[in-house]
Amino acid sequence: MSAQDELRRRDEQAELGGGKDKIDKQHAAGKLTARERINQLFDPGTFLEIDKLVTHKSSNFGLDEKRYYGDGVIVGSGKVNGRTVFAFAQDFTVFGGSLAAYHAKKIVKVMDLALSTGSPLIGMNDSGGARIQEGVESLGGYADIFLRNVLVSGVIPQISLILGPCAGGAVYSPAITDFTLMVDKKSHMFITGPEVIKTVTREEVSKEDLGGAVTHNSVSGVAHFLTTSDEDCIANCKRLLSYLPQNNTDPAPRVIGSDLASRENAELNSVVPESPNQPYDMHRIIKLIADEGDFMEVQPLFAQNMICGFARFDGYSTGIVANQPSVLAGCLDINASVKAARFVRFCDSFNIPILTLVDVPGFLPGINQEYGGIIRHGAKLLYAFAEATVPKVTVITRKAYGGAYDVMSSKHIRADYNFAYPTAEVAVMGPEGAVNIIFRREIEEAEKNGNVAQVRARLIAEYREKFANPWEVAELGFIDAVIEPKTTRRKVIEAFSTLHGKRQTNPKKKHGNIPL
Ligand code: HXC
Repeated sequence: MSAQDELRRRDEQAELGGGKDKIDKQHAAGKLTARERINQLFDPGTFLEIDKLVTHKSSNFGLDEKRYYGDGVIVGSGKVNGRTVFAFAQDFTVFGGSLAAYHAKKIVKVMDLALSTGSPLIGMNDSGGARIQEGVESLGGYADIFLRNVLVSGVIPQISLILGPCAGGAVYSPAITDFTLMVDKKSHMFITGPEVIKTVTREEVSKEDLGGAVTHNSVSGVAHFLTTSDEDCIANCKRLLSYLPQNNTDPAPRVIGSDLASRENAELNSVVPESPNQPYDMHRIIKLIADEGDFMEVQPLFAQNMICGFARFDGYSTGIVANQPSVLAGCLDINASVKAARFVRFCDSFNIPILTLVDVPGFLPGINQEYGGIIRHGAKLLYAFAEATVPKVTVITRKAYGGAYDVMSSKHIRADYNFAYPTAEVAVMGPEGAVNIIFRREIEEAEKNGNVAQVRARLIAEYREKFANPWEVAELGFIDAVIEPKTTRRKVIEAFSTLHGKRQTNPKKKHGNIPL
């Protein structure tokens, strides 16, 4: 056999992974193979594979009889919509995608290349965890990967696609990366599975309820995107990439469409209801102001009282953080604070400007919230907004009460432009609660006189007249302008356009001590 033929033979062998039967099994389970996933991710003909012929070196438990080229993971680089991206895809057809020494070395190699070239890293996870036959070497391999996940964090975007099992300590690589996408019914993540849980705590739970995609997207907040299939997952990953820069020194790509920067929209004048207690959907405002109405929401099913996601303004990628008055009245609670804090820090790491839309009645009251540590979790959001040096524009659409006013990217924590709608209410607390405190005696008196309802209504109206409006904060310069809602898009774009050259640095330090 010629050397060329030998190369061809080895190549073909590598492309077969664990063999035809295993590939059929993978397909029967409704999953693509690692190679098919790689082909879906990269622009046709651009994938440059490395370490295709690597094999494990173990002979434990008969492993010397089973050597597969590639050792259960495909690694390399290619173009995604013309931009260089590095990726690894675990091959479940080879030892269940399990990770051992050489499998890990391949992932490490591609991570190092992603870092040195300043390119995003995509991890496609589909693995039974540590390769049991190879013993503790896999633990070292995992830790080598975790270390790099940490070191490249904030330097290159890291995205994890969970396309099958991901259990035990293996979950910590995705957990450190910036975004995790899961496939409904096909992917699972847990530290300990249902059997172990049953033995230890006697709790009974299905694999799906414990660590399925719906659970992690709606209950735990571990995942950021719920997708319907491998193809859908990869398509979402590509869409997400389109909003992100290559690394922390490059700008995100500008995508100019046909939407005019000067576009106004009269509907915006009536989105916020007349009555301050009537809910409305903040998504509507986002849709009406973003380029082409396009918005990629992050964690849309988790902590729905807070909306986070990516849109474009005049073609520039922008992170949006917004209270959602139609869920829990838009209150800040533990989950909403943590969700938004992480998103703000992501945007700040990668120089993506942040637009904050505020309609927040305050922090959610409750024993569970206090015992759960709303103080330290709410502080995360305050910390994240305060330390962020990216361009920050804030629009108060309605309520901005109490500490939540300060937290939601207020002027005092270095937002560059703070706008308010004429319907904005900025005050120490809402009128109902405020009158109970400052007019306690009048209310007690009215109770005795039997006219408490009228008295309270009058006092609330007085308070509202004085504080529940944007005028006082406008006079103080806490907001820069009161704007007509229909002009929001134009004003936001004008504001961001003045901030392209923004340079702001924080005091020199090793790193801050965010209240984790
Ligand atoms: C070696 C493994 C393996 C593993 C699966 N396989 N997991 N081989 N090490 N960890 C092999 C199987 O033996 C099988 O080989 C093939 O992969 C497919 O597995 P199946 O069980 O047939 O597939 P399925 O029914 O889909 O079940 C998938 C699975 C299950 C849920 C992942 O295989 C499983 O529970 N595996 C063990 C998971 C585990 O306990 N891992 C170690 C966790 S400890 P054949 O040749 O029969 O087809 C850990 C520590 C990490 O990971 C620490 C990091 C810090």
